[in-house]
Amino acid sequence: MIDFGNFYQLIAGNNLQHWLNCLPAQLHEWQKAALHGSFKSWVKTLENLPVISPTQLDLKNGVIAERNPALSEGEKVCITNILQVFMPWRKGPFSFYGVNIDTEWRSDWKWDRVLPHISPLSGRTILDVGCGSGYHLWRMVGEGAELAVGIDPTQLFLCQFEAVRKLLGNDQRAHLLPLGIEQLPALAAFDTVFSMGVLYHRRSPLDHLWQLKNQLVSDGELVLESLVVEGDEHTCLIPGERYAQMRNVYFIPSAKMLKIWLEKCGFVDVKIADQAVTTTEEQRRTTWMRTESLSDFLDPTDSSKTIEGYPAPLRAVLIARKP
Ligand SMILES: C[S@@+](CC[C@H](N)C(=O)[O-])C[C@H]1O[C@@H](n2cnc3c(N)ncnc32)[C@H](O)[C@@H]1O
Repeated sequence: MIDFGNFYQLIAGNNLQHWLNCLPAQLHEWQKAALHGSFKSWVKTLENLPVISPTQLDLKNGVIAERNPALSEGEKVCITNILQVFMPWRKGPFSFYGVNIDTEWRSDWKWDRVLPHISPLSGRTILDVGCGSGYHLWRMVGEGAELAVGIDPTQLFLCQFEAVRKLLGNDQRAHLLPLGIEQLPALAAFDTVFSMGVLYHRRSPLDHLWQLKNQLVSDGELVLESLVVEGDEHTCLIPGERYAQMRNVYFIPSAKMLKIWLEKCGFVDVKIADQAVTTTEEQRRTTWMRTESLSDFLDPTDSSKTIEGYPAPLRAVLIARKP
């Protein structure tokens, strides 16, 4: 059983309180449907993970918790064994008391590309749509966010997030709700909304941009990170059955076209802040994610192409404001 009571209490007194009109009923339905199969056993495993409070916590330079006195070797083995139940670990890395989770993605590198371009997060209420394990939520807390809320419908990522929370001393500054963006009412309550790595998975990307805008306060900031292709404002790739082996990739526009989409949806001050090719150092197989990764998805004779012959992954960060 995952308890969302702390979150309800937290928002009862702030400008997210109108979310309580629908959220408890939605999550109650979700709990009823989720409590079987793998999720049920993951929740049991989660219960065996101890809450450990760090004496030193660094969320500015990573997600790094330390404790004095240090954990014994036996305690580290026990934590490692529990955390390995929640593999594959894709988004991170995390370091807990000498247990290092080397995730498939260096999500810290993405954060380093995003952070210099956004408004300071200090004191802000933040939504991270499609937050995965919640790695970036903790980095937002590290930047002084008042509250960081993530949504992600994947059950394993909720378990990873709750495991991390326990190893950060049951920290309540970040929360993950197992919802898809389409389940959110128009809350108009977040100062910053992040959508990173989600847009190309949406069948209707302009609807996604509208949904993101609906979550922002007036003058709020959208941080959009997505796959793009090189090209002018008329260029968009609609891949066939698969792109880099992923089945659920629908639209990959150029950054210039993406800027136009944002303007079409009513965003202003739209900026293309960064563009970077994904390297096999940033996304790779590790001991915490043991199946195929980027190097297996690229053409072995030409790494500028995916194995399907499309341009290899290139990612852009765009920043926009809701008027
Ligand atoms: C490529 S990952 C991106 C994770 C993270 N934001 C990052 O940039 O590293 C896409 C995430 O979107 C989540 N997702 C899938 N459908 C979604 C939906 N309808 N609403 C919100 N998130 C969704 C997936 O579970 C997955 O964790």
